[in-house]
Amino acid sequence: MSRHLISSADLSRTDIEGILATAESMHDLQRRDVKKVPTLRGRTIVNFFFEDSTRTRSSFEIAGKWLSADTINLSAKGSSTSKGESLRDTAMTVSAMAVDALVIRHGASGACRQVSQWVRCSVINAGDGMHEHPTQALLDAYTLRTRIGELDGKHVVIVGDLTHSRVFRSNVITLAALGARVTVVAPPTLMPSGIDAWSETDGFETSWDLDTVLAGGDPVDAVMMLRVQRERMSGGYFPTAREYTVGYGLTRDRLDRLVARNADVLVLHPGPMNRGLEIAADAADAPQSVVLEQVSAGVAVRMAVLYHLLAGEDAGSTRPAAPGAA
Ligand code: NCD
Repeated sequence: MSRHLISSADLSRTDIEGILATAESMHDLQRRDVKKVPTLRGRTIVNFFFEDSTRTRSSFEIAGKWLSADTINLSAKGSSTSKGESLRDTAMTVSAMAVDALVIRHGASGACRQVSQWVRCSVINAGDGMHEHPTQALLDAYTLRTRIGELDGKHVVIVGDLTHSRVFRSNVITLAALGARVTVVAPPTLMPSGIDAWSETDGFETSWDLDTVLAGGDPVDAVMMLRVQRERMSGGYFPTAREYTVGYGLTRDRLDRLVARNADVLVLHPGPMNRGLEIAADAADAPQSVVLEQVSAGVAVRMAVLYHLLAGEDAGSTRPAAPGAA
């Protein structure tokens, strides 16, 4: 495993399985009264979030704290970025303080890869623009495997605003690596351009018709609903919210149809949810919904990623030298 985690494609199936196995033991810690372990004592992790976040930022912070690392949070507002400092200068400034890992969320696709070329510490992508969000895909895989076991041959349907979704981009890579069958569904206006060539290389199917996908072929094992990312939209991608829901929302009626074909079907959403738009409140709170399990898995998976990058067998050059070593 490389010293950075920028793209889900950085991880082989063996790497993913190693991280998920570590995450299982980390998850056990969450059930204890005292959750701290000394694994990353003396290491420093900076969470630098240039975009808003609730789940990802707090779970990285909790993950670092439970591993006994010192964690520091920075955001664009409140850092010198708001005074016009460039990303390169900010990254190199933080790196000069001898931090061990930089967890970055940034609005520009490719920002994390750029930063990894400028700094000496590990860089972890916590979401870069419309590119990738690899730890989200890992926590989704963890949640799915906890409920339905190995993912080989399992059918996962990802629905919604694919164009703007880094969660979708990382998920198709990780799910394919774990052998799942993936179908992605979006209205034509929210289907990324060039997806046909990409779906052939990565072996997933695409559709504009949610009801046909839910009714046809193998029953669906899990449906992952994506948020309509209005903040990244400049024009009209669909006529009205109501029309989006009618065509692509997980309504009570669609959930009932899914359950009729597979009583164990799971509903995922990375959050934050637009209740009533891409997912009905009934579906978000249904027994099939594992939205909060995803959040809980997020801490365990991020602990596992930090462990593998900073302290694991494969930590490479970021591994601390033993005290007194030459
Ligand atoms: C996602 C993100 O920021 O990419 N959320 C998350 O990390 N839990 C998805 C989204 O914002 O819709």
